[in-house]
Amino acid sequence: MFQWLFSFFSNDLAVDLGTANSLIYMKNRGIVLSEPSIVAIQIDTKKVLAVGKEARRMVGRTPENIQAIRPLQDGVISDFDVTEKMLRHFISKVHGGGVISRPFIRPRIIVAVPSGITQVERKAVIESATKAGAAEVYLVEEPMAAAIGAGLPIDEPMGSMIVDIGGGTTEVAVISLAGMVFKQSLRLGGDKMDDCIQQYVKKKHNLLIGQRMAEYVKIQVGSAYPLQKPLSVEIQGRDIIRGVPKRITVIDDEIREALKDAVDSIVHLIRQALEKTPPELSGDIAERGLTISGGGSLLRNLDLRLKDETGLPISISEDPLTSVALGAGRMLNDLDLLRKVSSMSR
Ligand SMILES: Nc1ncnc2c1ncn2[C@@H]1O[C@H](COP(=O)(O)OP(=O)(O)OP(=O)(O)O)[C@@H](O)[C@H]1O
Ligand SMILES: [Mg+2]
Repeated sequence: MFQWLFSFFSNDLAVDLGTANSLIYMKNRGIVLSEPSIVAIQIDTKKVLAVGKEARRMVGRTPENIQAIRPLQDGVISDFDVTEKMLRHFISKVHGGGVISRPFIRPRIIVAVPSGITQVERKAVIESATKAGAAEVYLVEEPMAAAIGAGLPIDEPMGSMIVDIGGGTTEVAVISLAGMVFKQSLRLGGDKMDDCIQQYVKKKHNLLIGQRMAEYVKIQVGSAYPLQKPLSVEIQGRDIIRGVPKRITVIDDEIREALKDAVDSIVHLIRQALEKTPPELSGDIAERGLTISGGGSLLRNLDLRLKDETGLPISISEDPLTSVALGAGRMLNDLDLLRKVSSMSR
């Protein structure tokens, strides 16, 4: 009874600390926060002016003394201090202003982190969550959480392959019996695709565009394999030669060409993973195929391209942007599983 009551009032959390987006899942409630991992700070005083959605509005539009920072880059923490501030801000936001003021129900917090992070970075994440009021902090690796969120049978003696394509990293893992039998990651994801679009438009059309415009183009017309119906989008930037604002229209063929190298690298990573998978598990994967998740898996026809390259069935996780948070959230209700797949600190 007490346990039930405790669980009812529980404010245990699962956090997907992503390069592009941070999500928080609250036990018994589901996803309660989804915001870009961006912090706006005043350069001279280091004061945090805005976090998340509010800070994103400032990207590329900040005056000299304000900087909009993405504290996680290429899937790793590039600015500890700001990451900590961001994490504390998000955690206290979902707890209505601060967990430290409610010492009786200090939460258990699971944080999903990129599988490539260092010991020092692990410690930094644990410390931030602890300072935000966590009684216990568990770290789980992103591909494991993504696989659970995508509903793969991770604790069976059967190989499942998950490919999580985020903003900063692409991670491939083969999971069996709740362990990662094989994992590999590449510091390349949606952000790099945006860079490629910026460079392409600059070179081909002499047009300078910002990162947000490049992402918009990718989402509107980007693809990894020829489309059945052509797509086009009008974009705005600055003409490099004349220095004035200019509008042009780009089509899907061009953007597919711009994204070619980035997509090729993802294909290469998956091929390598398939080659290195132990033969017993390869058979399972050949039969059941692989699952893609993360925002990058929403790139049009990426599944068709991967099917063509690997000859395997490809499934896209039901809601690619929330798989990691949902998977980590599911562990809040399954402590046995949590202990099996995570490292923990008190
Ligand atoms: N429809 C879409 N088509 C292509 N890319 C998309 C689409 N929607 C979102 N993205 C991209 O997905 C990326 C964000 O994905 P996600 O939220 O999974 O990353 P993350 O978890 O924050 O990053 P990481 O896992 O690398 O730390 C961004 O680069 C975004 O531009
Ligand atoms: Mg992610």
